[in-house]
Amino acid sequence: MNRIPVVAGNWKMNKTVAEARELVSTIISKLREIPNVEKVLCPPFIAIPALYELLENSGIGLGAQNLYWEEKGAFTGEISPGMVKEFCKYVIIGHSERRTYFGETDESVNRKVSAAIKIGLTPIVCVGETLDQYESGLTSEVVRRQIKVGLAGIDPVDPASARRIIVAYEPVWAIGTGKASSGENANHVHGQVIRPALSDLFGDDIAQSIRIQYGGSVTASNASEFFAQPEIDGALVGGASLKPDEFVAITKAAAKSSR
Ligand code: PGA
Repeated sequence: MNRIPVVAGNWKMNKTVAEARELVSTIISKLREIPNVEKVLCPPFIAIPALYELLENSGIGLGAQNLYWEEKGAFTGEISPGMVKEFCKYVIIGHSERRTYFGETDESVNRKVSAAIKIGLTPIVCVGETLDQYESGLTSEVVRRQIKVGLAGIDPVDPASARRIIVAYEPVWAIGTGKASSGENANHVHGQVIRPALSDLFGDDIAQSIRIQYGGSVTASNASEFFAQPEIDGALVGGASLKPDEFVAITKAAAKSSR
């Protein structure tokens, strides 16, 4: 199966609008030249309209870091799928920081994924076990449940929508810690846990076409180790996506591995 790798930068709560413009201006020409990789930037909501203008016709996609599932109404502080869709093609859903600090669950992730799919966004759905769960040998069980519940009810009769989903495997113990998973371990979870769980939901054909990114302390120095693995289809990059040279180098490494 020929899956085009997708490298997404998750800027988290970093960069003012002015700083976001500056970062994009620094990387845009280098990024746009890199072939055979889907490139995505996910800045804070408030910078999205400004970057939308800068990124027009660049081949670099824009993503939000979250959305709320309702269409509109009295939900102070929330952003609707339609508001995201006005500017973005992608949306990160269920990041572990949202699960840890903002009470998101597999059930709320499921509502958000459904809303994103319904409106035509490409969800980047984050899964991954905590350190405790990893050390207790619970990785497979936890990740399988996150996929099974998080992606339940996405209509397999409309294969186009399920194929669009991107999964990001991000072991919580590897996020922002500088302690990345090994390529081999991530490849195992992708190939032996996530893809079979996707196959149970959508059938093997669709499961084989869904991209599974690795995330958690990806840097320019370890990126190739991940991209060399057959089940790793790109990366969700946090800290290193704020450093222009690092992010460009990671994207180039993905291009080299493009199969
Ligand atoms: P990190 O974050 O690359 O800084 O570890 C990854 C993420 O949280 O998506």
